[in-house]
Amino acid sequence: MTDWQELERKYFIQISPRTPLTLVRGEGARVWDDSGKEYLDFIAGWAVNSLGHCHPVVADAVAEQARTLIQTSNQYYTVPQIKLAQLLVENSCLDKVYVCNSGAEANEGAVKLARRYGSLKLNGAYEVITAMNSFHGRTLAMTAATGQEKFQKPYNPLPVGFRNVAFNDVEEIKAATTDQTCAVMLEPIQGEGGVNVPDDNYLSEVRRWCDQKGILLILDEIQTGIGRLGTLFGYEQYGVEPDIMTLAKGLGSGVPVGAFMAKDKFCVFAPGEHGSTFGGNALTSAAAYATVKYIIDHDVPGNVKKVGQYLFSGLEGLKKKYRFVTEVRGRGLLVAMEFDSDIGAVALTACLERGLLVNRVKPNALRFIPPLVIGNKEVDEALAILDKVLSSVGKEVER
Ligand SMILES: Cc1ncc(COP(=O)(O)O)c(C=O)c1O
Repeated sequence: MTDWQELERKYFIQISPRTPLTLVRGEGARVWDDSGKEYLDFIAGWAVNSLGHCHPVVADAVAEQARTLIQTSNQYYTVPQIKLAQLLVENSCLDKVYVCNSGAEANEGAVKLARRYGSLKLNGAYEVITAMNSFHGRTLAMTAATGQEKFQKPYNPLPVGFRNVAFNDVEEIKAATTDQTCAVMLEPIQGEGGVNVPDDNYLSEVRRWCDQKGILLILDEIQTGIGRLGTLFGYEQYGVEPDIMTLAKGLGSGVPVGAFMAKDKFCVFAPGEHGSTFGGNALTSAAAYATVKYIIDHDVPGNVKKVGQYLFSGLEGLKKKYRFVTEVRGRGLLVAMEFDSDIGAVALTACLERGLLVNRVKPNALRFIPPLVIGNKEVDEALAILDKVLSSVGKEVER
């Protein structure tokens, strides 16, 4: 059998800390490795496979579009891109869309739009306030936006124009706002930073402050959007509307596609001021359209709400049973379990051995971000594995 992992070490730039698992096939919430072993997937490509692996609706849309038209450039109109834009606009509070290829690229576009608004309407204001422990992507500008030193330090000096302040504290945002501020950019719930859920009134207070100062509120819904929290978009749960919103991850259920959306008032780009070769090409747009249409037509967010609550209470049950579990937090199907010591890696390996894929979001926390179409049966299976894992890890901890 080919040793793919050895070949990867030989040929690939060594940058991704990978779990030693070579996946060759996926279906629904299951994946199989190159030895044929089956796993229940509670990572879903990092919160991407919203409809699970290779959902027929997505696979058919891709196959059909691949035989029809793949790439034209944005010099021309294409039908899938326009259908996707219409679907997103008609189901959100935003008025216009630009389709791109990834989360970081969506956020770059959002920040460029806010800066352009600042240059035209706010006397050249250009600074964007973001939160500590946020995650906005890996480009240089998004590394500066991401309030985590471990991502920033290797690349100093970073582009100017970002101020990272404490999350969940509107006073910090107020204190950081100057006449150079054009926007505040936040995740409704911080995903990569550890599944950090703010107080219920945080976003509405930030919204009020942005209105008062005439600056923009950008919501990075790359992880929280497209049903992950139990509503199509996370902002719906917090009683606020963003001026700009970014999407990616679950948008194409595995096909790489991102988007930024804005209210009409803020769509100030002149033709040619932003662009992309591949952004919103016919192939990826067809996949995203099929994904979002399915999610809306089948009330997938409603399923997320129900199954998410079931998962949450199951995890709470495990917390009661194992005293080294200190917290369960999250909403919908974006949930984390935190421990009182750094046993995340050990727990992840034990889950893997028993056929469950989870994410170690912090040294002392696991994150559960399964496909949005799972049911209670998959949750029961995951909880049973976790119970065994915590029992064995607990014995180790106590030894
Ligand atoms: C909230 C958020 N924003 C942006 C990104 C970056 O997306 P991408 O990796 O597609 O560039 C991520 C990725 O994890 C994310 O969770």
